[in-house]
Amino acid sequence: MRLVIFGASGGCGQKLVEQALERGHRVTAVTRTTSSWRPSSDARHLVGDVLDPTFLREALAEQDVALSALGLRRASLLPGSRLLSPPDLVQRFTRLLRPELGGSAIRRVIWISAGGVGDSRARLSAPVRRLVRTANVGVAYADLEAAEEATRGDDRWLAVRPVTLVHGARTGRAGEVERYGLFSVIRRADVASWMLDVADGSRDWAGDRVLLGTV
Ligand SMILES: NC(=O)c1ccc[n+]([C@@H]2O[C@H](COP(=O)([O-])OP(=O)(O)OC[C@H]3O[C@@H](n4cnc5c(N)ncnc54)[C@H](OP(=O)(O)O)[C@@H]3O)[C@@H](O)[C@H]2O)c1
Repeated sequence: MRLVIFGASGGCGQKLVEQALERGHRVTAVTRTTSSWRPSSDARHLVGDVLDPTFLREALAEQDVALSALGLRRASLLPGSRLLSPPDLVQRFTRLLRPELGGSAIRRVIWISAGGVGDSRARLSAPVRRLVRTANVGVAYADLEAAEEATRGDDRWLAVRPVTLVHGARTGRAGEVERYGLFSVIRRADVASWMLDVADGSRDWAGDRVLLGTV
């Protein structure tokens, strides 16, 4: 299968690229010009601006599925640290991508949102709900809320809403969860694996969203 992966240089993005190559897919890894990360030579590497429609068109050409692990970068995890991405990055990306799908062969867009966005907010425990309201996290959540809104009504889009992301090797234990509590975590490698299962049809997921945790 032909996969284009946006946000390939990030924690989840790198896992998507590695695992997609392991599965034998034809991978196009998309990064921005400032990134020093490089995919393995088995992948095609495309460098450019995901907010440029012409570049998006080029990235989507002759692809079957688009995966996105794009998200806002900050200089550090400290409260109030400088944003290294436009605060509306993901919503602008989704709004630009949606009309481009029409002229492409893309049949699914599987992208990373976050646990607590949209109707999954009701599944947050009180401490996590407070956390999501903090300044650092709040900006990203507002962006993801708007991005999900921009994809509504188009069943090609699947918003993957992970609970708190952690590092570690794949366990194969990713699945839909009912609650997002303070200690709910999922490994980035497991998020990637779940997304690729849906992309290549080894897992059926007809819905447009999932609260993804460790099961
Ligand atoms: N942290 C959590 O616990 C958590 C929980 C639920 C959901 N999420 C969501 O999951 C997403 C993925 O997580 P992650 O750990 O893989 O994030 P990450 O490591 O911060 O990766 C973010 C990716 O977005 C790219 N990016 C940022 N600004 C960009 C821009 N202006 N143009 C092009 N690319 C840009 C980054 O590229 P560069 O490498 O060039 O910066 C990187 O590839 C997060 O961003 C967040 O929205 C996070």
